[in-house]
Amino acid sequence: MIAPSILSADFARLADEIAAVDGEPGKRADWLHVDVMDAHFVPNLTLGLPVVQSLLKATDIPIDCHLMIEDPDRWAIGYAEAGAYNVTVHVEAAKDPIAIAKDLRAAGAKAGLSIKPGTPLEPYVDVLRHYDTLLVMSVEPGFGGQKFIADVLDKVRRARQLIDTGHLKLVVEIDGGINADTIEQAAEAGVDCFVAGSAVYNADDPARAVEALRAKAAPAFAHVRR
Ligand code: DX5
Ligand code: ZN
Repeated sequence: MIAPSILSADFARLADEIAAVDGEPGKRADWLHVDVMDAHFVPNLTLGLPVVQSLLKATDIPIDCHLMIEDPDRWAIGYAEAGAYNVTVHVEAAKDPIAIAKDLRAAGAKAGLSIKPGTPLEPYVDVLRHYDTLLVMSVEPGFGGQKFIADVLDKVRRARQLIDTGHLKLVVEIDGGINADTIEQAAEAGVDCFVAGSAVYNADDPARAVEALRAKAAPAFAHVRR
């Protein structure tokens, strides 16, 4: 799956920018990745629930909310109740990640847990039994257009192993620095869903960029087989 991140889109033309990746099947976004930042958990400020509510009305593409915010225990539920398909919180910010996952699921959303590049996976394996999505950050969260940190692929491989052996049931998503040069190695490591901001929205034709990314990932994905 390819999840274009609107962080790199033109915020004054969001509906048009979404429509650009909402076309024919091969070029269509699977999820639309929406980065919510609060200027506390990360040193950047983007958008919040009112904008997400409007985006939900503007598209049928499942919305994937990535909450880079403090106190997700309080705020995440609103995004699920609004109708986001997947709501991801950061384990570094969550006080009770299991309770968050239960609340998100009860509200009808998939529950996602994200780990920053320096955060290990192993302490959270039990917590992840309550989640649907693991979002592995491959840049420090906060900004688009940063360089891919390949070291995080060890965590992707470990997650894939836990899934393949039946210990976890998760979509493995990666976020940060994904482009035509990096997507294959991520696919080989076991990623299911690729967030791409600048690689899609800085391209002349975002829909073709989605198609090109999918074409690069697919052989590696098929090779690993899941
Ligand atoms: C960064 C965000 C990403 C960002 C990725 O903190 O979580 O979703 O949009 O941008 P690129 O793909 O340009 O690295
Ligand atoms: Zn993101």
